[in-house]
Amino acid sequence: MIKDKFKKGIISARDFSREDIEYFLEKGHEMISIESSDLLKDKILATLFFEPSTRTRLSFESAMHRLGGKVIGFQTEKVSSIKKGESLADTIRTVENYSDCIVLRHSMEGAAKLASRFAKIPIINAGSGSKEHPTQALLDLLTIKEEVGLFDGLNMGIMGDLKYGRTVHSLAMLLSNFNINIYFISPEELKMRSRYKDYLFRQREVKFKEITNYRKILNILDVLYMTRIQKERFVDMEEYERVKNFYVFSEKDLENTKDNFRLLHPLPRINEIPPEIDKSEKAIYFKQTRYGLHMRKAILAELLSE
Ligand code: NCD
Repeated sequence: MIKDKFKKGIISARDFSREDIEYFLEKGHEMISIESSDLLKDKILATLFFEPSTRTRLSFESAMHRLGGKVIGFQTEKVSSIKKGESLADTIRTVENYSDCIVLRHSMEGAAKLASRFAKIPIINAGSGSKEHPTQALLDLLTIKEEVGLFDGLNMGIMGDLKYGRTVHSLAMLLSNFNINIYFISPEELKMRSRYKDYLFRQREVKFKEITNYRKILNILDVLYMTRIQKERFVDMEEYERVKNFYVFSEKDLENTKDNFRLLHPLPRINEIPPEIDKSEKAIYFKQTRYGLHMRKAILAELLSE
């Protein structure tokens, strides 16, 4: 049973088998046609965000409202007792008395895992440090499945900040369950860390290549997943300045892609995708935000419905 496996919540993309992913993709698909319902009528969701967010928090909150539930929470630690020095563990042990599920975003690596050790209710990891953002990866896969197809042999580029970007780490983990070709595209300084590559290559036998010049493979890609350079995670700001505009996708690039090519981005974007690209039907990052709502409805329904 899926429910039993995820009864502590959604903590890491590593916990997902292909069967689990397909189950959530199916549920996400069903949610596309469910505008609103009273499925979670008596439930309360707590959203605890210790880092900035637009899409993740609002899509979870909207999803909860659309399923008839209620939401409490805070958007910055500045207004919570963390500011007075309270620990994350104590915060969780308090909030669980007021809610049925906690969505947590935190800058600390492993924050959601730690929280789940203390909590009696499910914890949903909405981003912890630079390592994990599993619900983003699920919505990314829902977008690919619905808009392109998750077929064997799919050529997928994952480009930008592969060192600090948590969305790409969780996405790579989920993709390791499928028979697709991955191209990790980044400047030398922002390559995927070896612990992820070792896992993908040695334990999961994923076919991937690392390259720097995306233009060499643009014409064979079905999907390109671009990401923002994660300024807030750099220790050396000079390094950030050197790499911040390393990739800027152009209209000319778009012309060199296949007809069914699709460009994704978890957003926010900075300079890597200029606004003139938005009008192309190949640019689907705003559609992707809509799939985020559907996937989060699916996740909440799964974890919270009786
Ligand atoms: C991402 C995040 O917070 O990791 N945003 C999101 O949830 N869509 C990506 C980012 O901040 O670059």
